[in-house]
Amino acid sequence: MANQQPLRVALVGLGTVGSGVAKILLENSEHIKQRAGREIEIVSAIVRDPTKTRNVKLPEGILATSFDLIEAPEVDVVCELIGGTTTAGDIVRQGLTANKHVVTANKALLCEQGDELFQLAQQNGKTICFEAAVAGGVPVIDGVAQSLAANKIQSIKAILNGTSNYILTEMLDHNTSYEDAVSKAQDKGYAEADPKMDVDGTDAAQKLTILAQLAFGTKASLSDFPRQGIDELNLADLKYADELGYRVKLLAIARRNNGFLELHTQPTLIRKNLPMAAVYDAYNMIEVEGDAVGKTWFAGMGAGQMPTASAVVSDLIDLAVGRAQQTFPLLDLWGQSEPLPILPAEKIERKYYLRFHAFDQPGTISSIATILGNHGISIASCIQHDFEIQSGGSAASVVPFVVMTHATTEGQMRAADEELANCNAIQPDYLRLPIQG
Ligand code: NAP
Ligand code: HSE
Repeated sequence: MANQQPLRVALVGLGTVGSGVAKILLENSEHIKQRAGREIEIVSAIVRDPTKTRNVKLPEGILATSFDLIEAPEVDVVCELIGGTTTAGDIVRQGLTANKHVVTANKALLCEQGDELFQLAQQNGKTICFEAAVAGGVPVIDGVAQSLAANKIQSIKAILNGTSNYILTEMLDHNTSYEDAVSKAQDKGYAEADPKMDVDGTDAAQKLTILAQLAFGTKASLSDFPRQGIDELNLADLKYADELGYRVKLLAIARRNNGFLELHTQPTLIRKNLPMAAVYDAYNMIEVEGDAVGKTWFAGMGAGQMPTASAVVSDLIDLAVGRAQQTFPLLDLWGQSEPLPILPAEKIERKYYLRFHAFDQPGTISSIATILGNHGISIASCIQHDFEIQSGGSAASVVPFVVMTHATTEGQMRAADEELANCNAIQPDYLRLPIQG
C-alpha cells in the first residue's frame, strides 16, 4: 500500500448525517481500510452541545466544541456537516486556509458561495468533495464528473428533493395529510432543519445550480430561473393529474436549448409510463443525457442518515486514495470554458396544467378561455366534474376547473397570470404547473 498513514478527519456536526458518517467509519473500518488503502480516522467531532445524547459511540476524548481544532496539524480533512451558510462557510474557509481538504453535504452553501470556495480550494491546492450535496446517496456527482466525462451533457432532468417526493407519495398513495407527511419526513431525518427549504423548491433548486455548474459550466443563482414548490398543491391536484395519466413530481431541469441553458425547478406533470413517474418515497432519480452515451438514469435514496453518510464516506475514501485530488482541479468549476448563458425565463416553452376554483355561474369558462386566448394560449383539454366545494362563505358555489394547454411560453403564461389575477370568475388560488414531454 502506497500510503500507510491514516487519513485524519475533523468531523464538524454530529447530527443526522454526521452521526451516520461516524457509524460507517467506526463499524466498517476494516472494509474501508481495504478500499481506501489506509485507515480513515476521526480525530475530532465538533458539535454545538457536547452534553446531547448521540446515537453513535465515539472513541474517548474526540467530542469537542472548538472550531480551532480544524486547524490542528493532525487534521487532513474537514468534514462540514452542520448545514446553514454562515458558520458553515467560515468552517470551510478556515479549513482550506489551514491547508485541509474539505468534504461537505451542504448544497445551500455551495449554491450561495461555491464560486468563492472552489477558487479558494484551487488557490490553496486543496480539494472540495461534495457528492452528498446532491441526491443524497446517489452517486450523480461522480457520474457527471467522472463516469460521463467523455460526453457533452445535453440535459439533466431530476427528482432532487427526497422530502417533497416522500410527501407527494404519502399524500396520493397513503391518504396522509400534507401536515402529517411533512412531520413524518422530519422524523425520518429527510427534511432540512427548516423544512420550508424542501417544500418550496429551494433545496432542489440549490442542487440544480450545482449540477448546472458541473455539467454546463454555468453559474446560476436562485433568482435566475423559475422555482416553485409542492407547498402550493392540493391532494385534488395529484388526483386530477392521475386521472389525466400523469404523476406530479418536483422536477429540476437543466438542458441545452439553442445555445442557451434552460433551467427550472417546479412540480411537473410526468406521464405515468415514464421512469421518473414511478419514483416514490424519498428516492431521487436523475436522468443525464450525454451526446455519446444517450440517456442514463441514476436512482436511489436522496435523503436520510445512512444513504447520505454513504456518499460522504465515499468522498473520504476518494481523498484517502488520492483520486479526488487528481480530478478536482480538472472539473469545470472555475468557468475555464465558455459557460452556456441562461435562457431568459419568458422564453421557456412548455405545455401547462391550470387548476382554477371557479364560481359556478354563467360565463365563467368563457372568461377563462378568453383570457388565455388573448395571450395566444391554446386549450388542449379541460375537466369540470359535477360537484361543488365550499366557497369560503361567498354566495356562489365553487367548482374546480382544470385546463391542459398546448405548448406556450412562460412569457405568455405570465402575461395571462396577470389578467387571471383580476378575473372575478375565479378564486385567487389559481395553480399553474408545467407538463413534461
Ligand atoms: P442536523 O441533524 O441538524 O445536524 C447538524 C449538526 O451540526 C448537529 O450535530 C449540530 O450540533 C451541529 N451544529 C449546528 N450548528 C452548529 C454550530 N454553530 N456549531 C457547532 N455545531 C453545530 O443536520 P443534518 O440533517 O445532519 O444535515 C447536515 C448537512 O447535510 C446539511 O447541510 C444538510 O443540508 C446536508 N444534507 C442532509 C441530508 C439529510 O438527509 N439529512 C441529506 C443530504 C445533505 P448539536 O448536535 O450539538 O446540536
Ligand atoms: N432535505 C433534503 C431532501 C436532504 O429531502 O432531499 C437531501 O439533500
